[in-house]
Amino acid sequence: MEHWLITGGAGFIGSNFVNLIARDSSPQITVLDALTYAGNLQSIDSLIVSRRIRFCHGNVCDKQLVDRLFAENQITHVVHFAAESHVDRSILGAEEFIRTNVLGTFSMLEAARRHWKGEDKRLFVHVSTDEVFGDLALNAPAASESNSYAPSSPYSASKAASDHLVRAWHRTYGLPTVITNCSNNYGPWQFPEKLLPLIICNALENKPLPVYGDGQNIRDWLHVDDHCEAIRLVLRRGIPGETYLIGGRNERKNLDIVLAICSIVDQLLGRAEGSTRQLITFVSDRPGHDRRYSIDPTKIERELGWRPSRNFENSLLELVCWYRDHAPWIDAIRSGSYRDYYKRQYEGRA
Ligand code: NAD
Ligand code: TYD
Repeated sequence: MEHWLITGGAGFIGSNFVNLIARDSSPQITVLDALTYAGNLQSIDSLIVSRRIRFCHGNVCDKQLVDRLFAENQITHVVHFAAESHVDRSILGAEEFIRTNVLGTFSMLEAARRHWKGEDKRLFVHVSTDEVFGDLALNAPAASESNSYAPSSPYSASKAASDHLVRAWHRTYGLPTVITNCSNNYGPWQFPEKLLPLIICNALENKPLPVYGDGQNIRDWLHVDDHCEAIRLVLRRGIPGETYLIGGRNERKNLDIVLAICSIVDQLLGRAEGSTRQLITFVSDRPGHDRRYSIDPTKIERELGWRPSRNFENSLLELVCWYRDHAPWIDAIRSGSYRDYYKRQYEGRA
């Protein structure tokens, strides 16, 4: 029986992934998550209560704990999402990024190496980002697997470091690893500090919409469901030692997305056309702000048959509705009460 260890499964992408795979009858699933400010158990609560998945509250840097999870559950697959993920926070303080993203990945790799000696049918999927390739010129081709690394922020530098560790553990120790580098994700359960949820929530509540610099920075947006399907495919068919770039060929300027959200909010809330865009506020640019990211997904399309299925415009409308309909979730984040959720729901019950 396969047993998958999903780190960071209470975060944005991790929780969407766990919800996707838990629909299948197999495999067994254990989620390991430290429940930092970005972790939120409400997104996977029903799966824990129904015992479809097992939740372990802990840190990927805790070697003894990770070792115990491998030993007790005979882990066959790791999907390593756990990370500090917000660029602005990394600029304010990088230490936690180095600890979790670099040392945490080291701890996971070492545990897999110790427990998978001589075993076949094992796979360690390291979930990474297109930001490791750094700033792309406007006329440069989209990044492919052969681009060299040029990270700009403490966040992307820490992810680049972790990618290098994963490659070294494959080459030196033969650990069956795969790296995925995905572009910007959007979808439900994303913490409202990232561009889309922040702008949507503020627009719904008539608050200022902060746009960094001139708003002309380009990101390559992919729905989180399409990312999760790609990871599931990599788990099934990915070749150890390989890297797969994941993106939806969907480059957009930040300002265009903000304007699109404003129009949707005008329509949904019956506001006069053009009124929500009055909330746009151009603010100081992010230090070291990369101008453009773009991913060439040809390899995963050709070799694994992956295709994104989500249309951006329709999904944006759906997303605005999702945040409008999940006001209590947002309120709990704003008040901080979501951080007690684990205590209230699970302590003394496990
Ligand atoms: P997130 O910040 O929403 O969630 C991170 C999760 O990891 C949280 O549940 C948090 O509690 C947990 N965590 C943090 N430190 C931990 C630790 N030391 N031990 C155990 N758990 C810990 O992040 P996300 O947006 O879901 O991103 C998930 C992964 O995907 C990250 O590795 C990120 O680099 C990568 N990625 C994200 C995007 C994106 O657009 N969000 C794009 C490409 C790649
Ligand atoms: P973000 O969601 O933080 O993702 P990343 O920095 O990992 O790409 O930001 C996406 C883009 O939006 C990025 O160019 C920075 C910009 N941005 C704003 O203009 N205003 C904001 O309030 C935030 C959070 C981001």
